[in-house]
Amino acid sequence: MTEAALAAAGVDSYLSKEARQQPQWPDAAALRRTTDRLTQVPPLVFAGEADGLRAQLAAASRGEAFVLQGGDCAEIFAEATADRIRNKIKTILQMAVILTYGASTPVVKIGRMAGQYAKPRSSDTETRDGVTLPVYRGDIVNSSGFTEEERIPNPERLLDAYHVSASTLNLIRAFTQGGFADLRRVHQWNKGFAANPAYAKYEQFAGEIDRAVRFMGAAGGDFDALRTVELFSSHEALLLDYERALTRIDSRSGLAYDCSAHFLWIGERTRQLDGAHVEFLSKVHNPLAVKLGPTATAADAVALAERLNPENVAGRLTFVARMGADKVRDALPGIVEGVRDSGVAVTWLTDPMHGNTFTSDSGYKTRKFDTILDEVTGFFEVHEALGTVPGGLHVELTGDDVTEVMGGTEKIDDEGLARRYETKVDPRLNHQQSLEMAFLVADLLAKHNAGRPQELEELA
Ligand code: PEP
Ligand code: CO
Repeated sequence: MTEAALAAAGVDSYLSKEARQQPQWPDAAALRRTTDRLTQVPPLVFAGEADGLRAQLAAASRGEAFVLQGGDCAEIFAEATADRIRNKIKTILQMAVILTYGASTPVVKIGRMAGQYAKPRSSDTETRDGVTLPVYRGDIVNSSGFTEEERIPNPERLLDAYHVSASTLNLIRAFTQGGFADLRRVHQWNKGFAANPAYAKYEQFAGEIDRAVRFMGAAGGDFDALRTVELFSSHEALLLDYERALTRIDSRSGLAYDCSAHFLWIGERTRQLDGAHVEFLSKVHNPLAVKLGPTATAADAVALAERLNPENVAGRLTFVARMGADKVRDALPGIVEGVRDSGVAVTWLTDPMHGNTFTSDSGYKTRKFDTILDEVTGFFEVHEALGTVPGGLHVELTGDDVTEVMGGTEKIDDEGLARRYETKVDPRLNHQQSLEMAFLVADLLAKHNAGRPQELEELA
């Protein structure tokens, strides 16, 4: 019944299109066994939750909320521990508090979490010392270790990805619904090293929030809303065998949803209009995003919107601009303007990470804190000039004290990168750099909101 309904919903049409960035599975029968199994497992998220997120993304497209999407470049199965997951959740919640309080704007919180296991790569193979093996494509496909056994794509990993996603989501739901995220605990989320400027500033915010909350309590305010938060899950919908196997029909509406996450995005390398990724995601009803790099044109963006959101529903489609700090002020305005003038409804996010990666002199893949901030600043300037809405921030971060991005008030330099460089793919903001970034973005957002004509109308 369900499979027939899925077929009727057209979710297999992508099979006739070119799918880039897929592994070469050596054993098709083994792949089939795992994907068959995955069609039977319970969904990780529910269609109603995805609909709720769509409404919040629509609010962000109008400037009534701001999106914060963050997490690892690539989640690692072995790192899905309680401590690391808690630190990541805490970092996102702290950033959200800073943005909410600093810019008086509700924040839509989305983790690159509980499913961010598949990575696009620039080459199919990797060669070290004359040995060539399949490239690491993320834990859902193979392992990062450099042996043949570790690198051969293993379909069992699709089931592992499902189970690790389920346990990560379980912890997210427990932390966000079970009292940990209560706004009256903002102080306890801090690490307490008040000597550090970002933590000291956070302490000050937390103190002010505390006072405001106590004042509201004394005035008879209702606190149930402060007890819990919503934290949605997202990942790049790259590995189509997995995404298709977790697609379900929503019993309420009869529509197909990809129940591997609330929010799914198409990467810069797989956004071809006639490609399998765009085709597949056009058939599911989750809110979606597409990454747009500096080679994208306004016509590309409008065509993607027409394919992925033909009914022009607000909140259905988000564009994540990842231009590079040196290009954002030249490349982005034409695209945003073309999208604005065509009347298609989109939410604009900035990803200031992926256009700003380079290799340091000592050989680490890194990014500079100031360059990241410069791209965010450019993103705000572009929207300011066009009268459009800067809807949110998409960043790669971790809650741990790693040293992968250079700069910040800790002034991590090339030598410092070696101290604790752990990422398997892209460099992430560490906990402190994440809070620093949130303070700076809160300032940009507060300034942007202060200049908005809507506020002037309200005064008139
Ligand atoms: C990513 O988000 O990790 C990624 C690969 O991004 P992009 O598609 O923008 O290169
Ligand atoms: Co990345």
